[in-house]
Order: sequence, then C-alpha cells, then structure tokens
Amino acid sequence: MKFLALAAVAATVIVEVSAHTRVWSIWLSGSDQGAGAGRYILQPPTNNPVKNLTSSDIRCNVNGYSPVATYVSTPAGGIVTTEWYHDYRGDDIIATSHKGPIRSNGGGDIWVKIFHEGSTGHWAVEKLLSNRGKYDIPVPSNLAPGQYILRVEIIALHEADSLYSQDPARGAQFYPSCIQIQVTGSGSRTLPSGVSFPGAYSDSTPGIKWNIYDNNIDQRTYPIPGPAAVNL
Ligand SMILES: *[C@@H]1O[C@H](CO)[C@@H](O)[C@H](O)[C@H]1NC(C)=O
Repeated sequence: MKFLALAAVAATVIVEVSAHTRVWSIWLSGSDQGAGAGRYILQPPTNNPVKNLTSSDIRCNVNGYSPVATYVSTPAGGIVTTEWYHDYRGDDIIATSHKGPIRSNGGGDIWVKIFHEGSTGHWAVEKLLSNRGKYDIPVPSNLAPGQYILRVEIIALHEADSLYSQDPARGAQFYPSCIQIQVTGSGSRTLPSGVSFPGAYSDSTPGIKWNIYDNNIDQRTYPIPGPAAVNL
C-alpha cells in the first residue's frame, strides 16, 4: 500500500457555521464511480471537521482506520475528480465561508503530496463551489502501478486566526478523506519517503494559523501547510 497526499483550498465571504463537507463519489475520466462510502472511501460517520492536529483522525478522518472492499481503477496520468457534498449529493457542498487549501495523501513517514492548491486570488474552494462540488486531481503520469490510498483534504480557514490548541471553539478545520485507488499502466516512479499524519501539521506550521479576513494580507501568499508537492 502506498500513500498519496493532495491539497486544495476553498472559500468566499458568506459567514455560516454549520456547513461541513465530505466526499460522496469520485469520477474517473468523466465516469461516475457511484456512492463511495464504505465501498472505496474510508467514510467518516459525520461531516464534522477534524481540528486536533495531534489526533490520528487527522490522517483519514474519524473511522478512517479499516480498509474497505473496493479499489477504483485509474491509469497513471488520469484525472480523479472528487465530488464533495454537505448532507446529500447535489446540495450546497460546503459553506462559502470555509476558505482554505484541499490536499490529497496510515502511520509513519509515508504520505507523499502530489498536488495542492491554495489561493491565486480565488481560493481552491471557490473553484470547488463554482464546479458544483467537483474537484479534479491529476494522477502523476509516470506513477508506478499499484494500490494507493489517496488522501484528499480541504482545510477551511474561516476560524484559523486562532489556534485550536488555544481556543478549541475555533481553529483551522480539516476535512481529510481517504480513497482507495488502483493505479494501472507502466509507470516507473515509486514514491519517495513522505510525511506522517499526525505529525505533518503543528501549531507553528505556516498556514495553520492564518487570517483570511485581513485585507492587509495578500491571500495569494498563503503558505499551504505540509510539504511541497513532488513531481513524479
Ligand atoms: C488531541 O488529540 C490528542 C491525541 O489523541 C489527545 O491526547 C488530546 O487530548 C486531544 N486534545 C483535545 C483538546 O481534545
């Protein structure tokens, strides 16, 4: 089993507190793989965020410890489209206030980040919202075939001007989701060593504490937490 990490960010301006999110399905090259919960997604029981950086729930969310039966198959170089929802498929996806990065990646230094997106003036989550809950993740074109856990994460920053460790009512909200994929093809690149979850994020990691409402900060300078994305 190999582990991939991804990151992307979401957001806008409407302030709302209850709109959390999970991955419902993935699409492979435009083909809907159907409801993934308990089938190929290690689905958490609720759409609540994880906020405790030292909890192993930061890895694959609550309940994300046991494998599920199915791996969905994708060629190296393909596109995995993650489809996020709030309570039911096709709903409001995530509160527009939940701005922050999305990231895709068990124990040990095994999680390798292949992609992340923060803000280019628009947050990655704004892109997710405008695309009706769908978010594309490119599978590296030369990635060696095999079974992987694809960890995709949204970090919502609307309360990230405080640290959870200092104020448990606030802090950055993490929405990790782990998806079992089978990569096919003749790629030759195997994964280098990576980072661990928990471990990759701490209170002092750049981007864990961040004020998205401060107009004096160029939000495009947001440092996406975790390692650089590797080029495979
Ligand atoms: C965070 O998780 C760690 C590890 O499980 C635990 O020891 C600690 O009590 C948790 N902190 C809070 C505030 O729940």
